[in-house]
Amino acid sequence: MPGRMATAMGPETLQEAIMPKNPSDWPQSGPIDLAVHDLPHASSSTEWWYINGHLTTVTGKQLSIFASFFRIVSGQDPQTKNPVHAHSVTWAISDPSNQRYVSQSLVDKDAPRLGKIRLERGEGSRDPRLQRALREVLDKGQVPRPDRLFVHDPHVSLQQLDLNFDDQSLRKRDDGSYELSVRHEHLSYGFDVVLQPLVAPARHGEDGVVRGVSGEDMFYYFIPRCTLTGSVTLPGGVETIAQGSGWYDHEFGTHLSEQTVQEKAGNIGWNWCGVQLADGSAISAYALIDEDTLESRGNWAIVVDAAGQQHRYDDMTLEATASWSSTRTFQEYPTQWRLHVPAAGIDLTLKAAFDDQEFVTLISKPAFWEGRVDVLGRFGNSDVTGLGYVERSGMVAMNDMDGFFAAVGREVRKSVNEILPRNPTWEQTRDMIASKDRPQYMDGVEVNQLARTMVDPVRDITDRGGKSWRSYAALACCDVVGGDSRTYVQWLAMPELMHVGSLIVDDVQDKSTVRRGGPTTHLVHGEALAINAGTACYFMGQRLLFSQDVSPHNRLRLYDLYFESLRAGHAGQALDIGGHDHVMADVVASGDGALLERRVLAVHRLKTAVPAASLARMGALVGGGSEAQIEGVGLFFEALGLAFQIIDDVLNLRGFRGDLKDRGEDIAHGKVTLPIAKAMSRMSLEERQKLWATVESKTSDRSLIEATIADLERHGAIQACEDEARAMVEQAWAQLEPLVLDSLPKLLLRAFGWYVLERHY
Ligand code: IPE
Ligand code: MG
Ligand code: MG
Repeated sequence: MPGRMATAMGPETLQEAIMPKNPSDWPQSGPIDLAVHDLPHASSSTEWWYINGHLTTVTGKQLSIFASFFRIVSGQDPQTKNPVHAHSVTWAISDPSNQRYVSQSLVDKDAPRLGKIRLERGEGSRDPRLQRALREVLDKGQVPRPDRLFVHDPHVSLQQLDLNFDDQSLRKRDDGSYELSVRHEHLSYGFDVVLQPLVAPARHGEDGVVRGVSGEDMFYYFIPRCTLTGSVTLPGGVETIAQGSGWYDHEFGTHLSEQTVQEKAGNIGWNWCGVQLADGSAISAYALIDEDTLESRGNWAIVVDAAGQQHRYDDMTLEATASWSSTRTFQEYPTQWRLHVPAAGIDLTLKAAFDDQEFVTLISKPAFWEGRVDVLGRFGNSDVTGLGYVERSGMVAMNDMDGFFAAVGREVRKSVNEILPRNPTWEQTRDMIASKDRPQYMDGVEVNQLARTMVDPVRDITDRGGKSWRSYAALACCDVVGGDSRTYVQWLAMPELMHVGSLIVDDVQDKSTVRRGGPTTHLVHGEALAINAGTACYFMGQRLLFSQDVSPHNRLRLYDLYFESLRAGHAGQALDIGGHDHVMADVVASGDGALLERRVLAVHRLKTAVPAASLARMGALVGGGSEAQIEGVGLFFEALGLAFQIIDDVLNLRGFRGDLKDRGEDIAHGKVTLPIAKAMSRMSLEERQKLWATVESKTSDRSLIEATIADLERHGAIQACEDEARAMVEQAWAQLEPLVLDSLPKLLLRAFGWYVLERHY
């Protein structure tokens, strides 16, 4: 199954006339002639070759590898009328002892054009902003990293199996073995292996046929046992394989009819496994799921026993029993499975050798999970063990940004729970109070009392969940400059604690009663504990900075940024509490709203934009970004933070989706916001006096509030705010864009900018 994603790369646009509907070049009944069927099939609009293996090197390193080579029809030659093909190759090495997953994805030079056709057909992410961001990159003739475009033209022989895509090659030798070589473009990883089949090929699915959702049937055979020899290249050098076992898969398929192409192919997700048991038997199973209806679209388990005999079962389940969330894509993947084939007496647990075997590639919108699993359970009357590969594709969470941030929020709460557990152990309390070095500080401390007085007041708010984009900023900016945010996942709690601390105190200052849909902390725990717990949050967040393996120089810079944002935040709060009332008489008299606009923006900048910008800079700093990149992401998030608050002012007047707050609440509260400031430069003296009189009176008269909003709209004051927010974001993006390579995190940042501008709540 390893690679239905190939169909996602290119359009199946060929006419039925070009591709016969009933492929005569598919295997007939009887044994599969590999000399014929290992070759590319003329009838196929989608075809791939896949290999995996588990190996031990001479120095005892245990690794697993896989590689997939794809060939799809991407168009038709106008002269010869022959099909034109596009190609891609993906591979990865799983290193369980270092929990390291190294992957590479190379795609055809035609991929940007094909990607645009896909977007036009409405495929890929369902989020329009992500689509727009991707289109910007494709329009430049590029693909976002980690995918890379081929440098050379791919080579495909039609006489023998011989594929070479940018020096990643798969070739069949005269002795029937398969020779596979891959190497990473930038990292010192790769492998050169030979697989010698030990058993005859087996047909998967319905006697070789795997049925799709809309007629895109595929033929699928596999050789589940091969000796695996050769070498693996690792950063330490080339290591010879002492012992290895390989697996070969080949799948090719008919095109969709022109009509189904027009209607758009259904989205199909799948779970696939290839298991090699220590007793010499092997099992491959797949379950196809229609992503739109979540209905099963076929389940098959094929068992090749130790004697090489094949057994087929369509009654089987491959059920997820544990999961893991990626903090790069915020998708959740199963990492443990139960493979149950009752008629075969198979009941196996497949457990990921390590969680993070996520393969990020935009051709699979945006990632899939394919990794090494340890296998344990019952087969017939015996206890068995083994190794395998599982592939999980589709069923993605990144279809829209709301889903994305909901997933970020879940990870933020997990991270907060780790640093601030409701019922902390003695050790956790010690670290909360001070550090390992001075356990005496714990003397006489009642853990439970501290939990109730310092943890609960904070957790009551964080557990309700909030907008998690501050937390996302730091990680995204680490990745966007080429860093690896997975090292800093604990940081997710830091922005949340900084922010929630300020909210708890702010609610005391503002005498607010509701926060995140529940009672404010001071109403539940009293003002004294609320102020203390809110303040403590700032110092909790600091602990996370300390926990990382960062150079002393960078740590100092992190500290500077951390405290700079807290200073700015508190200055902004002071100015906000002080308010703008004292300048209003002058502004109303003069009609010069410019200074007032800057005053309002200063509060937004200091309270919201600076903390966001600091977090972005922190991420880019630990991601190894250049000074220009660190500044670029900082300025982008400063613009985003400002835009976020401006849009808040706008939504307050135009209404939040789902009536989250009363329309015009700011007017009722007597707040001077940016639309009011802009109106001051646009209205007559009389209108200005009326506007300020209304705002100053903190009216609760609905019709007066509605009339005031209508006045603001009529003078274009609200629209001017929205326009200004958009201009800020676009300008900051124009500065950042050339500084960072096109990549998935960059697409997300771009899309996030629009999301802030276009939100309705
Ligand atoms: C609260 O500020 C957020 C802080 C940064 C302290 P506000 O008082 O302006 O916002 P809400 O309405 O209470 O969230
Ligand atoms: Mg408030
Ligand atoms: Mg406030």
